[in-house]
Amino acid sequence: MLVIQNLSQLRQYREQKGSIALVPTLGNLHEGHLSLVRHALNEGERVLVSIFVNPLQFGAGEDFERYPRTLEADFAKLESIGTDAVFTPDLSMLYPFRQTVLIRPSDLASDLCGVTRPGHFAGVATVVLKLFNLARPEVALFGKKDYQQLFIIQEMVEQLNVPVRIVGIETVRDLDGLALSSRNSYLSVSERAEAPMLYATLQDVVQKISSGKDGYEMLCEAATRKMRDKGWQVEYVTVRDSDTLQLPEQGCNRLVILAAVWIGKTRLIDNIEFICD
Ligand code: PAF
Repeated sequence: MLVIQNLSQLRQYREQKGSIALVPTLGNLHEGHLSLVRHALNEGERVLVSIFVNPLQFGAGEDFERYPRTLEADFAKLESIGTDAVFTPDLSMLYPFRQTVLIRPSDLASDLCGVTRPGHFAGVATVVLKLFNLARPEVALFGKKDYQQLFIIQEMVEQLNVPVRIVGIETVRDLDGLALSSRNSYLSVSERAEAPMLYATLQDVVQKISSGKDGYEMLCEAATRKMRDKGWQVEYVTVRDSDTLQLPEQGCNRLVILAAVWIGKTRLIDNIEFICD
């Protein structure tokens, strides 16, 4: 596996033959990332994974400093599944100047996770566009666990005519249902034991809606209460139109339920897409 550490190496790699499928990551890779890479192997002739903990998407007081950096272990995992190349830029490579030009995503960026993480999606969109401009992939893959992020990147690509095809990949879960996330490693043993309740609670709401219950708001409020009773802090639980991420209009049947909660000092997000006939 080729390790690309600077822009001239990236240029050389780019100029070789074969379409590039890019998997942008923050590193600390788990099965969720590896699933993106496995799908990428079918999408492009060459698979490039980027590992960069992007300061621009972390707010003041967030976990930028303590975000797990596990480069050697990440390389071993990527190599074992046939990744072609990994790009590990440092800060000065992606941000040689103070970044005064930013992508401003649509208003959706200040909804859902954007309510408590102002500027987060502008930081994500900006670094993703930089990676696209540097690596010039034909296709890029992102996990559906970060549903709002995927949506915002798709919007950016469509509205700015960026010639990259975006592919969303299903969330990978532990056997008990907890969505894989690098932040799961922050959970204590007892927090980890109760964390699957997030997915279970969302599943319960989906099941109620699918069996004919309406009043999405009331169902989400009940789910919120249930998780608060556990001592969790709930940022939101909401049912949205999965095509627009707006509140569903009458008759909309393509839905997604999304949630963000804090278990102790760990913020977790999850979602389930579903069709309700
Ligand atoms: O989802 C992530 O890991 C990050 O937000 C991304 C897309 C790599 C941008 O830094």
